Amino acid sequence: MASRIKIKKLLQSPPNSETVTAKGWIRTKRVSKQTVFLTINDGSCQQDLQVVLSPAQLPENLLNQIGTGASVAITGFMVASMGEKQNVELHGQQMVVLGDAPKYPLQPKAHSLEFLRTLLHLRFRTRTFGAIFRIRHVISYAIHRFFHERGFIYLHTPIITAADAEGAGALFQVTSPNPTAQAAAGPSDPTEAFFKEIAHLTVSGQLAAEAAVMGLHSVYTFGPTFRAENSNTSRHLAEFWMVEPEVAFNDLDDTIALAEELVKALLDALLANCSEELKWLEQRTIRNINEPSPQLPLLERLTFVRETPFTRITYTEAIDILMDALPNKNGTFAYPIKSWGSDLQSEHERYLVEQHFQRPVIVTDYPKGLKAFYMRQNDDNKTVAAMDLLFPGVGEIIGGSQREERMDYLTAAMQRMHISLADLNWYLDTRRFGTIPHSGFGMGLERFMLFATGMENIRDVIPFPRTPGHIAC
Ligand code: 4AD
Ligand code: MG
Repeated sequence: MASRIKIKKLLQSPPNSETVTAKGWIRTKRVSKQTVFLTINDGSCQQDLQVVLSPAQLPENLLNQIGTGASVAITGFMVASMGEKQNVELHGQQMVVLGDAPKYPLQPKAHSLEFLRTLLHLRFRTRTFGAIFRIRHVISYAIHRFFHERGFIYLHTPIITAADAEGAGALFQVTSPNPTAQAAAGPSDPTEAFFKEIAHLTVSGQLAAEAAVMGLHSVYTFGPTFRAENSNTSRHLAEFWMVEPEVAFNDLDDTIALAEELVKALLDALLANCSEELKWLEQRTIRNINEPSPQLPLLERLTFVRETPFTRITYTEAIDILMDALPNKNGTFAYPIKSWGSDLQSEHERYLVEQHFQRPVIVTDYPKGLKAFYMRQNDDNKTVAAMDLLFPGVGEIIGGSQREERMDYLTAAMQRMHISLADLNWYLDTRRFGTIPHSGFGMGLERFMLFATGMENIRDVIPFPRTPGHIAC
């Protein structure tokens, strides 16, 4: 058999007389008297390879064996295609069935996303999820490249930790009885547990990144983070991937500029490398939506955000807009804003972005009571140097701040929020020994992926979503 060539490469090659082998999974099969048409895909690209075979070349039982989902190796040569969908196609001379797939549950028709969530391990074979996970790779790679090109150091922060980095208490506990412990006390007694104290899965690598920038200047973490919040929404996962840059000597303005630059660089990478995937996802949403969508088509939306400067407003300005918006022409909010100090719910964020400004919005200077202990207090004594980047269709994509570098302010905030100074004594050393202004932010990869793909449910942009009650495969 001739050496195997990936379908992506075969589709780019001109017709020629060389014998080649393609391997992949059958998407469709059409049989007529003279011809068998197969489309096969090997995951290397969005497009399928059309294969043309003559039934005379195939034993009857082989022809019956092949169907959607079966894996095959086909040897033949590439010829110019008469069909409209492709320039070239493979005229097969020989076929081997690698694995048949009787009762394969994904027939060549559009399945609902809900149905596909019951078959997570098979989703990779569909066009939609092939597109999504190739895009996820391109974005992940572009994140590393972005920071590498700017001199950042990729910092691996612990997954298992004793610290509650957000002070929000949404922690998964990690336990295992200490094998050397005599007692039958079990993991509920922290002194008997593996680490001899209570350990958690990390909610954020930020505190470790703050320590690191005091020697390495600019770092970023990019790894899984875990939140035990019981929010069963289309925007929350119990396990998600977060990228967190942290930079010594940066203030809030610097970190906002970095966030905007990152997001735009990722959109550049997406538009430059994923045109076929984006075309598929855009057509998918157009096909599925019966009513006209209030949103621009996917590609236009991505290009618009790429080209548009983000609007920057303070929390106080946002509250004024939201209070004036009541009652607005689109009906009232489920949670009306009553006064300064109210938290912004997703409906408020989306009102600001989708209706009021019609572009991404950065909200800064939130009331200190709404934000984490490490954010730098402003001179008004009421607000902190926080920033959230809000995106159309998604809401919060990025959350960040300038950090409180003044020891007395930091410890006062920790005490106010009942965060143990003793537990974070190591962190306080960063302020004891050569403290400096510094800033950073966290971007949820899956939140960005929602925007990048136009998908509506966060469970559809991560290979194996974990949400309350769901951990099958
Ligand atoms: O706003 P958050 O909680 O900020 C932090 O964790 C900071 N330590 C980041 C930093 O400054 N280094 O989370 C940051 C981002 C959010 O904007 C959102 O995109 C994402 O993480 N995120 C989630 N994504 C999916 N599911 C969840 N449950 C998420 N919680 C936060
Ligand atoms: Mg946040």
